Amino acid sequence: MRAAQQPLMLRSFFLSLSQNRDLRRWMEHSRLAKRLTRRFIAGNTLREAIAVCDRLNTEGILTTLDHLGESVTDPSEANQAREHCMEALRAIASRSLQSTISIKLTQMGLDIDEKLCFENARQLVAYASEIGSRVEFDMESSAYTDRTLAIVEKLHNEYGCVRAVIQAYLFRSEADIEKLNRELLPVRICKGAYVEPPDVAFEKKSDVDTNYLKLAHALLEDGASPGIATHDERMVEVAKPFPKDSFEYQMLYGIRRDLQRKLVREGYRVRVYVPYGDAWYPYFMRRLAERPANVLFLVRNFFKN
Ligand code: FDA
Repeated sequence: MRAAQQPLMLRSFFLSLSQNRDLRRWMEHSRLAKRLTRRFIAGNTLREAIAVCDRLNTEGILTTLDHLGESVTDPSEANQAREHCMEALRAIASRSLQSTISIKLTQMGLDIDEKLCFENARQLVAYASEIGSRVEFDMESSAYTDRTLAIVEKLHNEYGCVRAVIQAYLFRSEADIEKLNRELLPVRICKGAYVEPPDVAFEKKSDVDTNYLKLAHALLEDGASPGIATHDERMVEVAKPFPKDSFEYQMLYGIRRDLQRKLVREGYRVRVYVPYGDAWYPYFMRRLAERPANVLFLVRNFFKN
């Protein structure tokens, strides 16, 4: 096996573990696992997540709250997920937090009934518009891209106050960004975190990076309030020549905290994605897949603390 293949194999390994239901059940109920994951998950409750947002806002960092969960299979679970997100919006309003929320449409019922999913998302966007916040629509695997964008575009036309996510690893993304730019629909650009077949996505990291730079540039030139979501300093550099109030950097809670603070000191807008809740396992596994060295990092910190 060539050395260059090792990170790819580890990535696939962690992504396949993210689908393992038994391990998920065990991890999400384990106190040990909770301690281990504290670095990347803000807490199990909204209260813990709000405390993190308060602290970040005080440091001049904007936030987006993500009540963890995806792929629900029952309408009552989808409605419950909507209520959790509504509660987060109410907390944002009552505490005047500089925060949006991020949601996944499979959490709102996309796999069950598209109408139910749309109505759940619509209620959140309507309330976000009332309180001057925003709903950011995370992008899941390519099986959901068309349906997600259709819902986001409809809500953009009705309310504004949404942001779509486009993944640089997909071949289709250049055309999607051209369309969303024409509609002045805000976009978060990220590299992409799911396993995709080779006929829809670039396989080589260098190709994904090249496409990211190209798409970020298109958004910065012609887009509306883009979110440059990355921890990669080469990707961060692409936005620096553009006016500081025309875009924001977005990063994940617990990752490259040094870079987040440095950018704020330099006068850039930075938003941190703050995940919380009991259903943290798939999210956590995607973070390990991106950087398998995190396993060692977490274990070392666990024993240090
Ligand atoms: P890359 O993976 O090349 O990493 C560059 C450097 O960043 C690494 O060398 C390391 O220093 C640091 N780094 C990156 N990941 C790390 C990790 N897990 N732990 C520690 N260090 C790490 N994806 C998706 O498919 N749909 C979505 O909706 C979103 N939403 C989203 C929101 C926000 C705010 C961010 C920042 C990211 C996403 N993503 C996402 C995830 C995204 O697609 C991607 O998987 C990660 O951001 C990692 O890619 P980077 O751009 O950071 O580069």
